[in-house]
Amino acid sequence: MIQTICCIGAGYVGGPTMAVIADRCPQIQVTVVDLNQARIDAWNDPDLSQLPVYEPGLDAVVGRCRGRNLHFSTAVDAAIAAADMVFLSVNTPTKTKGIGAGQASDLRWIEASARQVAAAARGHTIVVEKSTLPVRTAAVIRTILEAAEGDTPSGRKSFDVLSNPEFLAEGTAIGDLEAPDRVLIGGEQPAAIEALAQIYGHWVPAERILRTNVWSSELSKLTANAFLAQRISSINSIAALCEATEADVREVARAIGADSRIGSKFLKAGPGFGGSCFQKDILNLVYLCRHYGLSEVAAYWESVVNLNAWQQHRISALLVQRLFGTVTSKRIAVLGFAFKADTNDTRETPAIRICGDLLEEGAQLAIYDPKVSAAQIAADLGTSEGWQMVDAPLAAAQGADAVLVLTEWQQFAQLDWRPLAAVMRQPAWLFDARAICDAVAARAAGLKVWRVGEG
Ligand code: NAD
Ligand code: UGA
Repeated sequence: MIQTICCIGAGYVGGPTMAVIADRCPQIQVTVVDLNQARIDAWNDPDLSQLPVYEPGLDAVVGRCRGRNLHFSTAVDAAIAAADMVFLSVNTPTKTKGIGAGQASDLRWIEASARQVAAAARGHTIVVEKSTLPVRTAAVIRTILEAAEGDTPSGRKSFDVLSNPEFLAEGTAIGDLEAPDRVLIGGEQPAAIEALAQIYGHWVPAERILRTNVWSSELSKLTANAFLAQRISSINSIAALCEATEADVREVARAIGADSRIGSKFLKAGPGFGGSCFQKDILNLVYLCRHYGLSEVAAYWESVVNLNAWQQHRISALLVQRLFGTVTSKRIAVLGFAFKADTNDTRETPAIRICGDLLEEGAQLAIYDPKVSAAQIAADLGTSEGWQMVDAPLAAAQGADAVLVLTEWQQFAQLDWRPLAAVMRQPAWLFDARAICDAVAARAAGLKVWRVGEG
């Protein structure tokens, strides 16, 4: 029976995942550790609105458990030593240099944390891969851990390795964790598998806890993200065709989604997928396929990423074209910078590429996002020139030639277009890359309207 858990990595996954485990298993002590002192301080902030991750409902869960059986700390070794089970939830970004640069996952943080577990663990420890990893990473982790196994002054040291990928989506993390479609556990040792299954069993129905071998589990995570991203590229490709043919992508999505074999979810056309994982995980899959000599399979999945980049450039290009072929010195109001609604995360957000293109064309951007900070946007755009942060859509629209909606924040659906149109320079445009705004009201307010996927 697991009594003490350590999670290495207090990020978007480690924080919320462990908070829900602590909430549902009050008898287990859970410590989330990180090297980043500022991040740990934010997790410990008495003001729950200052948590480093914004997720609806997360503050309530943390508020219930923190200090009781949920702890955030930088004392990594001590937390590992005390734990029966250690989750590895560190970042695994795409490599930027060396072999596999631009495609393969950078495993330096996974290796470093595995080595730290090997050194600091005591007794028997179950090590759980929570990070998304290339297939066969568990073999690497096992090799590192095995080298440390054996008798030590504090007793015999031994390890089991499990794969337990995380499927939560940002913005709905708490709901996804509390009622997952499935929990996946890949492993070899039945006792270790059952120990982890028992933890989830406190709130997840038994039939939703799937057990596979380690490699299937690792590969299922990459495959799930590849399939999800592929649906978005598929619908975005059809959106472009709809715009050329007077079809409407939302009608097409409804019609095809009614087929139970296709299903209705994940068929929203937009500015392309963002987020830290889809692109990274597909490129990782592409790299693995090439490594195993499967070049056609690699090319197939790579096209999903290529189409996504194309969609983003397509949107900035059509905006320039509608604004008479130039946006130099024109003010453009950008509503939304996060990669999706209900998160403050901007990793790989479509806004980076689209705003980057517009800045390149000489536009002056007025950016509004309810959760993203100006400092984050400056870091993402790599410049503090050519744009400013404003605190409301109306302020963004002041003197603008166009409003460009890039994130589907619910408040944009309720915007009153009359006051915005009144302060814009005419003729003025609404470019709605999420099809979230009330287009009828915007047109009635005198705006020209472009909506993604509308012919
Ligand atoms: P993140 O960057 O938000 O958090 C990772 C944390 O690990 C960082 O705070 C970093 O300081 C810490 N860290 C790195 N090395 C460490 C070490 N040796 N010791 C202690 N701390 C260390 O990343 P994330 O978004 O939480 O993603 C983590 C993993 O989960 C990735 O593999 C990702 O692909 C996967 N994943 C992410 C999501 C998501 O929605 N973000 C969903 C499912 C899976
Ligand atoms: C995604 C997956 O949904 C999770 O299952 C997975 O755990 C996670 O990646 C991960 O591995 O990190 P996330 O990126 O947080 O979660 O959010 P999604 O809801 O999947 O959205 C991803 C991107 O696709 C966003 O930019 C979103 O706006 C876009 N999207 C999504 C669309 O353009 N259309 C859709 O119909 C759905």
